[in-house]
Amino acid sequence: MPENKNTTVVKHGDVNQRVGVEVIRARGVDVEKLIKMLIANAAAEFASTYYYYTILRMHLAGYEDYKEICEDARLEDRAHWELIVPRIYELGGELPNDLPAFHDQAGCRAAKLPDPPTVVNILTLLLESERCAIRSWIEICDMTFGKDPRTYDMASRILNEEIEHEAWFIELLAHERDGKTIPSGHFRRGEPGHAPYSKNASFYNP
Ligand SMILES: [Fe+2]
Ligand SMILES: [Fe+2]
Repeated sequence: MPENKNTTVVKHGDVNQRVGVEVIRARGVDVEKLIKMLIANAAAEFASTYYYYTILRMHLAGYEDYKEICEDARLEDRAHWELIVPRIYELGGELPNDLPAFHDQAGCRAAKLPDPPTVVNILTLLLESERCAIRSWIEICDMTFGKDPRTYDMASRILNEEIEHEAWFIELLAHERDGKTIPSGHFRRGEPGHAPYSKNASFYNP
């Protein structure tokens, strides 16, 4: 790779610059924009979905199977939040030290309990929330592909699960609302919130 003139050469022992950032900048990543997008996605995972999916799951009373699938999607969104937050700091960014401000930066609309909270309304909301997540994560994949392998790897792991989540809620909504069978291919996770792509031993992800 030829030396890029716009790249800062990190000085010996300098703790205020990061080679891990300069190398991806040199390959064309707009690091400041990437950090902003990662914070928006982290807020969507934590505030727009994980938090509100808790309430949605509570209201799926009488549909124990739907509850369990909502719980998988909820816990996997928490895993996504856990996976991506350390990356924000590695890139030199930080989370806002104010929860309402953080919530307001979310890239997806809060999945608030619909009125009336019918099972069809809840499943529709879950489906559309997953669709927002897919659109947000593929943007990070596009931005980092071939330039920032570490962010790309994390984003593509998350995207794998968001695509599965969409398929789950298409199956449930089609069955519940239209009496139609549109299989997702899903049976069940090994344990609630298993997160086969975004949570594994290679990452610190409690
Ligand atoms: Fe997610
Ligand atoms: Fe999801």
